[in-house]
Amino acid sequence: MSYDLVVIGTGPGGYVCAIRAAQLGMKVAVVEKWKTFGGTCLNVGCIPSKALLHASEMFAQAAHDLPSLGVIVGAPTLDMPAMMKHKDDTVAANVNGVAFLLKKNKVDTHIGVGAIAAPGKVVVTADDGKTTELETKNIVIATGSEVTPLPGVTIDEKIVVSSTGALKLDKVPGRLVVVGAGVIGLELGSVYRRLGAEVTVVEFLDRILPGMDTEIARQFQRMLEKQGFNFQLAHKVSKVEAAGAGAVVTIEPAAGGDAKTLEADVVLVAIGRRPYTQGLGLEAVGVAMERGRVVIDDHFATNVPGVYAIGDVVRGPMLAHKAEDEGIAVAEILAGQHGHVNYNVIPGVVYTEPEIAAVGKTEEDLTAAGVVYKVGKFPFTANGRARAMRATDGFVKVLADAATDRVLGVHIVGRGAGELIAEAAVLMEFGGSSEDLARTCHAHPTMSEAVKEAALAVEKRAIHM
Ligand code: FAD
Ligand code: NAI
Repeated sequence: MSYDLVVIGTGPGGYVCAIRAAQLGMKVAVVEKWKTFGGTCLNVGCIPSKALLHASEMFAQAAHDLPSLGVIVGAPTLDMPAMMKHKDDTVAANVNGVAFLLKKNKVDTHIGVGAIAAPGKVVVTADDGKTTELETKNIVIATGSEVTPLPGVTIDEKIVVSSTGALKLDKVPGRLVVVGAGVIGLELGSVYRRLGAEVTVVEFLDRILPGMDTEIARQFQRMLEKQGFNFQLAHKVSKVEAAGAGAVVTIEPAAGGDAKTLEADVVLVAIGRRPYTQGLGLEAVGVAMERGRVVIDDHFATNVPGVYAIGDVVRGPMLAHKAEDEGIAVAEILAGQHGHVNYNVIPGVVYTEPEIAAVGKTEEDLTAAGVVYKVGKFPFTANGRARAMRATDGFVKVLADAATDRVLGVHIVGRGAGELIAEAAVLMEFGGSSEDLARTCHAHPTMSEAVKEAALAVEKRAIHM
């Protein structure tokens, strides 16, 4: 079988790349070792976690928020199998959707582990050991990432779980200890906190959500504490031991000091993800790697001619939309076009309640780079729609270059922040200023008016504050 392009891995990077290449007239195949397409994101990541986040948020709202709106439904009861079925149905609809799209675009699909035997040659080994050889002009590696293990701790996906096990617990743990106050820890911690678990998050650093704007992270930590989260910041886990039907977690101050123990029914290890390249045969063909990541140039090319790489397996944030955009860019480059990804404008969203969304630079980034900037902030307490929805927690922060007024970063904590950030991304993609944002008419009453008001606040002229 001979192709213009073989993509190894069908996560958001791989399947989007394959579809774009097919749209551009290439003969394309994908190789996938799992039984379903869509990779981490659709099978065990973005999609199932958002299904559980939505369902558990509805449960929390029914329990705590509806009475204040005059809606009396009584104390909600949890049907855990039904909630998990909602998640499984959502995953099935999405992975089947990708299968349909690949077929519609005439992309050949090969199920099995793909290995690069030589430039232009991919060998697919199916579960039964049968091999198929694919000839191809180009190869895109889109094999994604896997959970980073905690040294000395065995993940059994029952008591000590990764995100994958946490997405399919059969009951709500009484006590959940989360290791790592990153995106996974706070999202999946939120799911089980809302459903009644006592949640303690152990984080090595002295703050949550490293990389996010510090002011936003601090305020958000207080909001989570109000929701009942316990934090053990500046602590590391030194031991996790089985104890009865649960575990005992030993933690120590990161700077040294006395150890203490936490009892848990379930321990979620969420200390990051690492690139996945096992079984690809990269060493044999001489593809350069650096700290586990495949090294690429500005055009996604590895050092081996005809071999490219995108998504979690290369540098940059491990985000589905970043992988997708790289998939499109490399397909366009292979078709002789000018595919490009603007890494300055990759939004990041934490899908908690409230949500956190950010695009561009943080204040810390700008200070470190010596950029002089202006700040405009607006709280949701002063937004009419937020009051109407009793969603007044949080604020919007716009950072603009002091000399040119160009918007360099926007940070939001608030309900629906993940949707609100899109207008900031469009503005920044067009090199827009805070003046542009402030003079754009925003519908009333909407949460997005807080974004406009924060832009007005850059020049100290917010109207409703
Ligand atoms: P992946 O999605 O990891 O896909 C790689 C694919 O390659 C897999 O299907 C794998 O089976 C296959 N593969 C690997 N090796 C081979 C081989 N040798 N042969 C054949 N196939 C192979 N990101 C967001 O942007 N938003 C979110 O809300 C979000 N939520 C997340 C929640 C969780 C719990 C997790 C774990 C991650 C989340 N992410 C989220 C991150 C997101 O899932 C990844 O950034 C994204 O999936 C990366 O896409 P990818 O195409 O690079 O790789
Ligand atoms: P993360 O990198 O976001 O957070 C890991 C946290 O664990 C960090 O705060 C780190 O300081 C801490 N940590 C590391 N070692 C530790 C130790 N030994 N003890 C205690 N704390 C320790 O990683 P996470 O949450 O596992 O997510 C992995 C990736 O998946 C992220 O890169 C993220 O981009 C992606 N993701 C994205 C989501 C989204 O966009 N909404 C949702 C979930 C995951």
